Amino acid sequence: MSNISELLSQSSFSHSDLEQLLQCEGEEKKLLFDTGGAVKEIHVGKKVYFRGLIEFSNICEKDCFYCGIRRSNQTVRRYNLTDNEILEAAKFADENKYGSVVLQSGENSSPAFAERISNLIIQIKKNSNGRLGITLSVGEQSDRVYRRWFEAGAHRYLLRIETTNQSLYRKIHPQNKAHDFNHRLNCLHSLQNIGYQTGTGVMIGLPFQTTGDLANDLLFFQQFGIDMVGMGPYIEHFQTPLYEFHKDLLTIKQRFELSLKMIALLRILMKDINIAAATALQAIDPFGREKGIKVGANIIMPNITPGLYRNDYTLYDNKPCIDEEPAQCKGCLDARIALADGEIGYGEWGDSIHFRRRTDKQSI
Ligand code: 5AD
Ligand code: FES
Repeated sequence: MSNISELLSQSSFSHSDLEQLLQCEGEEKKLLFDTGGAVKEIHVGKKVYFRGLIEFSNICEKDCFYCGIRRSNQTVRRYNLTDNEILEAAKFADENKYGSVVLQSGENSSPAFAERISNLIIQIKKNSNGRLGITLSVGEQSDRVYRRWFEAGAHRYLLRIETTNQSLYRKIHPQNKAHDFNHRLNCLHSLQNIGYQTGTGVMIGLPFQTTGDLANDLLFFQQFGIDMVGMGPYIEHFQTPLYEFHKDLLTIKQRFELSLKMIALLRILMKDINIAAATALQAIDPFGREKGIKVGANIIMPNITPGLYRNDYTLYDNKPCIDEEPAQCKGCLDARIALADGEIGYGEWGDSIHFRRRTDKQSI
């Protein structure tokens, strides 16, 4: 016990410290969770910021072995929201003072897609009189396209690295140019150089993944100087190649607990970044996201995709809240955040303090 509390009071952490902390249980685990929550309150406060998540299309060019909407899954009913439906969802976010929206979809590298996203960004900005912040989460693109979208008004970008263990990365993706670890890493550097608030993340509890890998993931976030992280448990999808290994996985409860430990530790490591409580947490525990908030997360991404389409954005099995309409979600979330002793930052962008500090330093 004293060992863990000593570890937690350090100002920097080695790989082996992190591994040890990821393995703690019982009272030690509770101490880790409480410390994550306390560090959060001191450094970023109690406020939880909402990003209205619009999953506007499940059409994807890629074939990741873990993902339910991978190109080869022919049982998926593919959809693509109309521009009007996307703009309506953004209007809902604005009217309900969500502060920002996240546009997320499967990957599409066509020029027509790049053009469409540019126009949507411009429209959303115009319709909300500049009020809505815009985060993009549409995968790997060229530097030119990232730049174009930044100039159109998007200011945050999420691109999960999925795992920083390159050999594990190769195991969970097809081996071809479209699924190349170094290309993904280059994309993250591009985003950071262009000036986006840059977000990444990993899946926790993947087959073949070790706590040593997860410790490396945490060190990677720190070394990269990432502004935002969204990470959550890997949840097997029965129509994917990785399902073959489902019997070797940690139990779902263990993956959940490990995800909370990762959130708490990351908060201790990177005190001023934004950390999202991933929806996948809620797929396991009905109060999963609130538990994430308690141990260090400060961002929630309520799904505001029109209810009609939600059933079809199934990255993993058991996705929560797919039967609800956005308005129902809202009332439910207000109550949930209050239970987790948080306050909602309505109408605020809730930018990453880390990003502001990082860019202020650069401009001196
Ligand atoms: N379990 C958990 N997360 C998943 N994602 C994709 N498939 C799964 C899964 N089976 C995550 C990936 C991706 C994000 C949009 O969803 O990390 O980057
Ligand atoms: Fe779509 Fe991985 S399957 S990006």
